[in-house]
Amino acid sequence: MGTTDLKRGEDSVNGIVKILDSIISDLGDAYDQIDKHYDIKGFTGKSKEVFLQEFYDEARYVDKVHEIHELKEPMPNQYGHCLRVALETKLFVDDAIKHDDFSIDDEQKSALYTAAMIHDYKKKDCNHEAINRKGPLSPREIAEMRTHTHARDDIEKYVLNGDGLNQVMLEMVIDIVQGHHPAYGTKLENGFGQVLIIADCLDSMKIRGQYQPDQPDSYVSNFFNMFVEKGILERKYVNPIIRMVTEYSREERTERNNQDYTTHVM
Ligand SMILES: [Fe+2]
Ligand SMILES: [Fe+2]
Repeated sequence: MGTTDLKRGEDSVNGIVKILDSIISDLGDAYDQIDKHYDIKGFTGKSKEVFLQEFYDEARYVDKVHEIHELKEPMPNQYGHCLRVALETKLFVDDAIKHDDFSIDDEQKSALYTAAMIHDYKKKDCNHEAINRKGPLSPREIAEMRTHTHARDDIEKYVLNGDGLNQVMLEMVIDIVQGHHPAYGTKLENGFGQVLIIADCLDSMKIRGQYQPDQPDSYVSNFFNMFVEKGILERKYVNPIIRMVTEYSREERTERNNQDYTTHVM
């Protein structure tokens, strides 16, 4: 079964099916990009098709988040990043559940994966040239970038339309998206939302590589240690993180010593 055989949403009105086709085939690309860095099959014991199908079923609202396509043309890096981060949250959760590190219920999973898909959607309102440019941002550009977590209005009005989402679910998604950058000072109400922080930083350090080159696993470990020490991440996330950057990493072990963590929390 190829990725195009995955189950479709039932709503075929207004081109939703076409949009879904596109989202799902892009998820396929996102999967392959992640798999270059992490052995997903070894991690989960699942084939690519099963993993993507499960993501689609567990996220539940994949067909409601097609607005992230507004990112695709102007900001392909951010668009791919959102899709990968969503799959990385599932990777992380599946492994943690398998090892009994923490539990998460179906509603929370759905909110987490949905939030991950749209977490940087508001970057569409930021300066595209600045975001697409490699290298550091100016202070003014950084200030503008920090507004991308102010997502409540967009999520309520456009991104999720309220369609099929109860208020509790909607609030969880909004909380996780608005709290995905600990450095911005918005505190997460939902502790499991910390998984998005992990997946977001992981993708930025290993794959997106927009503001910095690919970082070695040792750097990634040190970075997350710092977050645990500061109380940004709960200790229950330590073992899954360690497994990810040791057992399931495909990295050829080369050591670099770069301790500048600041660019990952933008
Ligand atoms: Fe972000
Ligand atoms: Fe992000």
